[in-house]
Amino acid sequence: MSTIALMGAGGKMGNRITRNLKDHPDYTTLYVEVSEAGRASLAELGVSVTPQDEAMKQADVVILAVPDALIGKICSDIVPKLKSGTMVMGLDPAAGYAGVLPEREDITYFISHPCHPPLFHDETDPEARRDWFGGVKAKQNIICSLHHGPEEDYAKGEAIARTIFAPVMRAHRLTTEQMAILEPALVETLALTCFTVIREGMDEAIRMGVPEPAVRDFLFGHIRTTVAIVFDFAGAPVSDGAKLAVNQAKGQIFQPDWKKVMQIENIEKSVKAITKAEI
Ligand SMILES: NC(=O)c1ccc[n+]([C@@H]2O[C@H](COP(=O)([O-])OP(=O)(O)OC[C@H]3O[C@@H](n4cnc5c(N)ncnc54)[C@H](O)[C@@H]3O)[C@@H](O)[C@H]2O)c1
Repeated sequence: MSTIALMGAGGKMGNRITRNLKDHPDYTTLYVEVSEAGRASLAELGVSVTPQDEAMKQADVVILAVPDALIGKICSDIVPKLKSGTMVMGLDPAAGYAGVLPEREDITYFISHPCHPPLFHDETDPEARRDWFGGVKAKQNIICSLHHGPEEDYAKGEAIARTIFAPVMRAHRLTTEQMAILEPALVETLALTCFTVIREGMDEAIRMGVPEPAVRDFLFGHIRTTVAIVFDFAGAPVSDGAKLAVNQAKGQIFQPDWKKVMQIENIEKSVKAITKAEI
């Protein structure tokens, strides 16, 4: 049986992971948490915390459910203390891609990240339908990278990732760089920015006097249908009128060189800012 030390067990990801690990027959889990609020949330889940140094001595696997900006500092403290062969699992590619994980030849670094439950799904259980982030009731996919370490550790890392993010459908194996192209670049820098602007447009429609319930009903229905059309789920083409609107508005809303946010040098800057690494 492997011993897992869960760093940041009382945070958002830590709490979800705690629920999936605490009664799991394959793993003994030690919970490490520094904040009072985090410790209180762990007490509510019926688990107690272990001092960091004690947990590091025993750990076969360390999961970093801690803020990305602290990962470099925390790892420079804990990694020298780990047993040879320990796997350190990150939940985001930023730290690995920014180069803030301390080099130690006999330590494995594995990175896994949830895709979150898909927009189009077959969930019928109300609890699963309200599981916005995954790891509770809704099925989701995940991405994984063996950032550093022997090939046989990939299967071990994927098995743990499937447990902490359960229930999992597909696990995609990527490189750390490919993970960073997906997040932050694709889903945060690009998609979140576009959705933030759409939200501002919604607020503008309400400010202009359209009743909010009508705005929300109309927008969310159209978001679903538009995604189904644009991403080829619906098998229906974009109408000629809609194409014309997009062609006219695109140059007004976006800079012609917007794709530079997806360029590797921009992604490198972005992960360094997220992890507070030297630029
Ligand atoms: N929040 C999400 O939905 C989400 C999704 C995917 C990946 N992630 C990744 O998960 C990781 C954690 O993010 P989060 O949103 O859960 O953060 P969070 O801020 O909610 O929780 C972090 C926890 O770490 C604790 N902590 C800080 N320093 C510590 C230390 N030295 N020792 C032990 N505990 C310490 C904090 O007290 C807090 O409880 C990040 O790498 C993030 O990118 C988060």
